[in-house]
Amino acid sequence: MSDIRSLVRGCGAYLPSRALSNSELAQSVDTSDEWIVERTGIRQRHIAAEGEMTSDLACMAAGRALEAAGIDAGDIDLIVLATSTPDQTFPATATVVQARLGIRQGAAFDVQAVCSGFIYALAVADNFVKAGQAKRALVIGAETFSRILDWEDRGTCVLFGDGAGALVLEAAKSNGAAANRGVLSTHLHADGRHHDALYVDGGPSSTRTTGYLRMNGREVFRHAVTNLARVVDETLDANGLTAADIDWLVPHQANKRIIDSTARKLGLSSDKIVLTVDRHGNTSAASVPLALSEAVGDGRIQEGDLVLMEAMGGGFTWGAALARW
Ligand code: UT7
Repeated sequence: MSDIRSLVRGCGAYLPSRALSNSELAQSVDTSDEWIVERTGIRQRHIAAEGEMTSDLACMAAGRALEAAGIDAGDIDLIVLATSTPDQTFPATATVVQARLGIRQGAAFDVQAVCSGFIYALAVADNFVKAGQAKRALVIGAETFSRILDWEDRGTCVLFGDGAGALVLEAAKSNGAAANRGVLSTHLHADGRHHDALYVDGGPSSTRTTGYLRMNGREVFRHAVTNLARVVDETLDANGLTAADIDWLVPHQANKRIIDSTARKLGLSSDKIVLTVDRHGNTSAASVPLALSEAVGDGRIQEGDLVLMEAMGGGFTWGAALARW
């Protein structure tokens, strides 16, 4: 086992300025504020401006994370960016971010695991750090899902929003600065048999169009509740902990009912759960780092706190990460 661990040095987030409320949406699609709030907990979502791209959101969040960490962009030697809405099919949006931040060294690539993307990216970056292949990593989740929504499909267009969040990880000795701190474990899963329950009906190899998001909501919901409960248990078991040890649950923000179900199974009270779905909607790979940044920024998450993150998304993919702040 490596004696290196990834310390979380700082986080940052960015939301496009335009907030779209449920009632505004109800003017163009057959829905209502009551239905959306009751079924999902969502009240509004942010929408990127014309010409505002995933890389723009990612750069803003990354810049804020670097500032919070007190680390120069030039010291970053790894960028892992989770997105399903890259600026272009290629190159990786991470390389655009790298150039814009003035970083000239190390590796930069995208990870695509839809709503689990940030947990996947965090696991990848953490393993690079533990293997000694990176010293300071930027882990970013950034999305412009508004661009792949069918705005006439009320079953999906009310759910998603745009945004970005980022973390800065730094290598530290687990018997020194990172004793009992940093990323403690990550747990990733996929079951590709369900790849057609949540997908985009386009792509360079199939239709040569970008396509629109399609979802069997009930199917996703059912699997999310089961898979998230399992991966959370797996994470606690792997660390010899119980739910009572957790200071903060930072869940993927898809639906308040899914979050409540996970919290109920863990026996966690609502004041230990970071909730942003009401204001952000489902921002896919950006949702966990957006929620983290909010709770760190307003002082809820403090140094030494045990933070459990989890997410589930298209593929299906799902996972969890445990970190001591
Ligand atoms: O982040 C990736 C993971 N994604 C998720 O976790 C999403 C998981 N799924 C969900 O969150 C829920 O399944 C939804 C919020 C998408 C849907 O909630 P539901 O309680 O499963 O509703 P439903 O799909 O069973 O639809 C119930 C009714 C239907 O009408 P009928 O057939 O009963 O007459 C829908 O047509 O609600 C209707 N409906 C709507 N009504 C008003 C669906 N969307 C809307 C809407 N406004 N926006």
